[in-house]
Amino acid sequence: MKAIEIRNKYLEFFKKYNHTVIPSAPLIPENDPSVLFNTAGMQPLVPYLLGETHPAGTRLCDYQKCVRTNDIEEVGDNRHLTYFEMLGNWSLGDYFKDESIAMSYEFLTKELNIPAEKLSVTCFAGDEDCPRDTVSAEAWKKVGIPEERIYFYGKDDNWWIAGEEGPCGPDTEMFYDTGKPACGPNCEPSCDCGKYVEIWNNVFMEYFKDKNGYRKLKNKNVDTGLGLERMAMLMQGVETPFDTELFKPIMDKLSELQKIDNIESRRIIAEHLRSSMMITCDGGRPSNVDRGYILRRLIRRMIRHMNKLQIDLNELSTLIDINVDNLKEMYPELEKNRKDIKDVILAEKDKFVKTLNHGEKEFEKQIKKLEGTKVVPGNIVFRLYDTYGFPPEVTKELATENGMEIDMQEFEKLFKEHQEKSRQGSAQKFKGGLAEQTETTIAYHTATHLLHEALREILGEHVKQRGSNITEERLRFDFSHPQKMTPEEIKAVEDLVNEQIQKDLKVTCEEMDYEEAKNSGAIGLFTDKYGDRVKVYTIGDFSKEICGGPHVTHTGNMGRFKIKKEQASSSGIRRIKAVLIKD
Ligand code: SER
Repeated sequence: MKAIEIRNKYLEFFKKYNHTVIPSAPLIPENDPSVLFNTAGMQPLVPYLLGETHPAGTRLCDYQKCVRTNDIEEVGDNRHLTYFEMLGNWSLGDYFKDESIAMSYEFLTKELNIPAEKLSVTCFAGDEDCPRDTVSAEAWKKVGIPEERIYFYGKDDNWWIAGEEGPCGPDTEMFYDTGKPACGPNCEPSCDCGKYVEIWNNVFMEYFKDKNGYRKLKNKNVDTGLGLERMAMLMQGVETPFDTELFKPIMDKLSELQKIDNIESRRIIAEHLRSSMMITCDGGRPSNVDRGYILRRLIRRMIRHMNKLQIDLNELSTLIDINVDNLKEMYPELEKNRKDIKDVILAEKDKFVKTLNHGEKEFEKQIKKLEGTKVVPGNIVFRLYDTYGFPPEVTKELATENGMEIDMQEFEKLFKEHQEKSRQGSAQKFKGGLAEQTETTIAYHTATHLLHEALREILGEHVKQRGSNITEERLRFDFSHPQKMTPEEIKAVEDLVNEQIQKDLKVTCEEMDYEEAKNSGAIGLFTDKYGDRVKVYTIGDFSKEICGGPHVTHTGNMGRFKIKKEQASSSGIRRIKAVLIKD
């Protein structure tokens, strides 16, 4: 069964059980500065898991594009991926454990025809924060999983939270027995010998964790996640995701182009190329900070491995075409952005190629000096990064090839110092995690709507939002406009926004069909981001915008709006940074 068939079956199945199919959010989260990319299907749904009502109802399902980069160095083995697709279904205070488990079991055994005896499940063993999950275990028994294939584990295995804070809860996980021999008498699903493969995780999100501990959420929610690539691999009876149709065409082409054979390098190239293309497609651009730096690392590591296999770098364009052609049925946006994706990735290649050879020579020179030692000091790793643009994993690989290690700790220290110096340190964010909406961020969110409308009134209707980002300290707003704003225009926009704040306008929210929202004159951002039902936020008679919320109820207490910076973001796009000052 091809991946797209699994995806379609999944969405159809949950539709049958009254779930609304919602679109995948872009990889780059809107208004959540605490994470670099969507790392799970639940991420765009956090406000709803915390209690906001979702316009599409209380039963949702989707496929979500995800990027996880914690294991970037592991890519090249037979299972790690940085980009993957997660199928998910959610109950927002609707059904809970029994129904969720019954549906999962039915989907696996009836739709995917997995023999029941190949399935084992795990449940939460219980601790001082949350009782043993006997309800899930009983639900599994009821559908037909015998007691001896139900395992109980603690928080390390059967508790799910994104990062350190946020909605969370005990989970029950489903494992597929590959039929490989057990590695020993104690081989269980928690063992990573490869006999058992985790295929689905149902999280019963009824808690919220912050630094003060756990508290109950308003609703008992269900959040499930099924990794598509892994399921495709199992359904096709192949050993790795690279042997599925998702990677086969690109892997075959790499075999044809390479002059030196190395399966790990081929996998790294294939994986990093798909990941870079998906990130670029959703608006990511290589840079030295945050998500731009992740993209840069992916592209550069891929280039180095192309070099290692002596693949002509001019072939990159063909490789991109092969991937677009192969994946466009699943991701039509790849076809739409084919040219952009190529331009961005090829430009980054050109940039890196200029320093790659010099950097490799420099590395060789340095290790000659280090003769006798086994560790490349952090300052050399940093110099290669800073002067030659070598991501640390590239230097690490060069070191490994020379029987050495790198002092990653020292590198990270220098890297952090450097990042902080340029005021944009983001080491925290590499870990992931979710921010709770605070009074301040909610006010900034509403201010973004006021700013959007004010810009349209002062500069003209050609102004369209192209992105936004909110922190506790400020809002950032990107919009289309061909030239720099004059000081008079900036002042007029500020005044117009402040006028609306002073009027203490009421903010109301209505749910309606997407088409109806558009016809009502509501403005929005990315059209293909929305589902059929949307929320429309109206601020007095000033602004009407499609948005997930949340927002302030009245504008009165937001503070005084001040634009701190107006600058170019990219060609034809301006960027405003603004603050709300509480006088
Ligand atoms: N949030 C859970 C996960 O990522 C289930 O969707 O595994």
